[in-house]
Amino acid sequence: MSFESAMRAIIVPEDPVEFAKSFFLEAAKKAIEEHGSFSVALSGGSTPKALYGKLKECKDSLDWSKVKLFFSDERTVPPTDQDSNYHMAITSGFEALPIPKNQIFRMKGESDPAKGAKEYEELIKKEIPEERFDLILLGMGDDGHTASLFPGTKALDETSRLVVENEVPQKNTVRITFTFPLLKKAKNIMFLATGEGKREMISKVFKDINDTYPSGRVRCDHSKVLWVLDKASAADLQTN
Ligand code: 6PG
Repeated sequence: MSFESAMRAIIVPEDPVEFAKSFFLEAAKKAIEEHGSFSVALSGGSTPKALYGKLKECKDSLDWSKVKLFFSDERTVPPTDQDSNYHMAITSGFEALPIPKNQIFRMKGESDPAKGAKEYEELIKKEIPEERFDLILLGMGDDGHTASLFPGTKALDETSRLVVENEVPQKNTVRITFTFPLLKKAKNIMFLATGEGKREMISKVFKDINDTYPSGRVRCDHSKVLWVLDKASAADLQTN
């Protein structure tokens, strides 16, 4: 078994977003059955956004009152800002779903990112046993970043904190992000990375065995990291 096949699973479905929607719903039903709630962290980005639009149609597919909605990273902008991952997820789909307002946990990075990161970490410790998310959704940037773990940034080296503020010079901004230690605790992690624009980086990530790219460094203690790709983004991989 190769290094990557030991820790990752790749699937290239006809309709990746439809597959991701089914996986989300199955993971949710299983978690609710097993322990009465479903804790999920959403990612920003245009690819995950398509999934949120599909979940919007799933009002009757799940007991949404048992869902606890978190975010794996956030920009340091107000919740009404177009750049906010919270704003994108809520307006793309989640505002149409009956999740209790006090179970939607926004990362508050707009005023003091360091304080916002600390508060979010405390919130996760309070709301999620062993800080073990039932599902974390991630996207991958063309530079190989995921969440707001960008190449060459300080957060990549964090070994104990679960949520940190992260200076991102390449975006001339500060973000709040989950760290690798928090991602590692998750029961399930699903990457959704589709389109020709991801092809080159997907190939680099899956051929790399030196943890060069943040997306390639993501590990999950409890299952293989699931990569949901499409024919375009997976074009350079041998998927048998
Ligand atoms: C962010 C996202 C980021 C995103 C990737 C993929 O805040 O920017 O959390 O990690 O998931 O950049 O985005 P696309 O799917 O739009 O390429």
